[in-house]
Amino acid sequence: MSEREKKLEAAKERLKAFGQEHLLKYYGELPETEQDALLSQILATDFSVLSPGQLAAEKKARGRIEPLSCLELPAIEARREAYEAAGLKALRGGLCAAVLLAGGMGTRLGLSGPKGACDIGITRPVYIFQRLLENLAETARRALRPLRLFIMTSEKNDAETRAFLREHEFFGYPEEYVSFFVQDMAPCTDFGGKVLLEEKGRIAASPNGNGGWFVSLLRSEAGHLLADEGIRWLNVFGVDNVLQRILDPVFVGATILGGCAVGSKVVRKVSPEEKVGVMCLEDGRPSVIEYSEMTPELLAERNEKGEPAYNFGVILNYLFSVEELRKHADGKLLLHLARKKIPCLDETGRAVRPGEPNGLKYELFIFDQIHEMPGCLPFEVVREREFAPVKNAQGADSVESARRLCEKNGIAL
Ligand code: UD1
Repeated sequence: MSEREKKLEAAKERLKAFGQEHLLKYYGELPETEQDALLSQILATDFSVLSPGQLAAEKKARGRIEPLSCLELPAIEARREAYEAAGLKALRGGLCAAVLLAGGMGTRLGLSGPKGACDIGITRPVYIFQRLLENLAETARRALRPLRLFIMTSEKNDAETRAFLREHEFFGYPEEYVSFFVQDMAPCTDFGGKVLLEEKGRIAASPNGNGGWFVSLLRSEAGHLLADEGIRWLNVFGVDNVLQRILDPVFVGATILGGCAVGSKVVRKVSPEEKVGVMCLEDGRPSVIEYSEMTPELLAERNEKGEPAYNFGVILNYLFSVEELRKHADGKLLLHLARKKIPCLDETGRAVRPGEPNGLKYELFIFDQIHEMPGCLPFEVVREREFAPVKNAQGADSVESARRLCEKNGIAL
């Protein structure tokens, strides 16, 4: 049996086990290179994420949701010096590194390339990646040492992200302290759970959400650095907030002194509808409810002060204990399903670009990892100083609003 025939047999077996045999429907029509690519894609795809068990678990109602109190600004101010000293000690001791989640597709912004390459400058180019690297460099100066930065990309933007940062010489950040890793992809399906073909020789797939970052990091070539460099804390953050404070010593110190396995920066929501996840307790453990999963009842609930009970939104800046993350690295997080318009082949093999959602994308969310942690410190920050996300082309959370906030913070654009 030739190598290709062996691969074909293995692929058939795999597809049969998951009821996805239709993916080889056009195999016979493909040139050999495309046959090879399709077989490799099938063998590398984790179809088990679509198993009936996982899908049923996803549909189950959430646990008992209750408000979670937060370390608010006055309490932080009162202990600022102690927190800062503890944070700087951990940073200077080399215990902390940062992880930039940059595998997303930036579809809401209408970009085709990496979101970090978006230029928000007015009189000169100022890229999102540049803002983030400059902020990290500022902390590194206070830490009196370079700080390791891991950057998660996806198959869709890895080459472009690396090329962009090299071209701009990492905006002055020492390149040897920047390590890339690529996140996994998840297959897209129709509403019945059948995986879609994007082309005759290619499965429709999309990045599997930001919740797979730790497993992808461990499996990558950069994974050994955690142990080699003695990294105990990872500050994980999103790509789109141009005021993101990275490895902020006060936050690091508060989480460590609080004895928590994870810290989460939060802001007071500007309106009930603001698109941020909110911190809560779920069955007595820390958790986050994503804005897309918030119910009208929870939005209406008030606390004893008459304020909205779920008022602290996460800004996607978490500090995780590596030791705790390792304990859960083998487990499976819940899948979140999103109805999306997925370009694919119809039953006749014709390529279609649907105008309405035609299938499901499957994503893991980072905050489901919080629910696994024994304790979480929600840590309030001043929104105007630390939260300027670029998510939409116009209006709220756009380049325009981010520019205004940068100017307020004295950042020349
Ligand atoms: C995200 C948070 C939300 C938070 C808000 C704050 C999640 C799931 N949602 O919402 O709780 O209140 O930011 O601004 O964390 N990413 C990947 N790979 C993927 C998908 C996303 O690396 O497969 C990265 C993106 O590049 C981005 C970040 O994760 O840096 C957030 O992703 P996005 O889908 O834009 O989340 P939001 O809806 O903005």
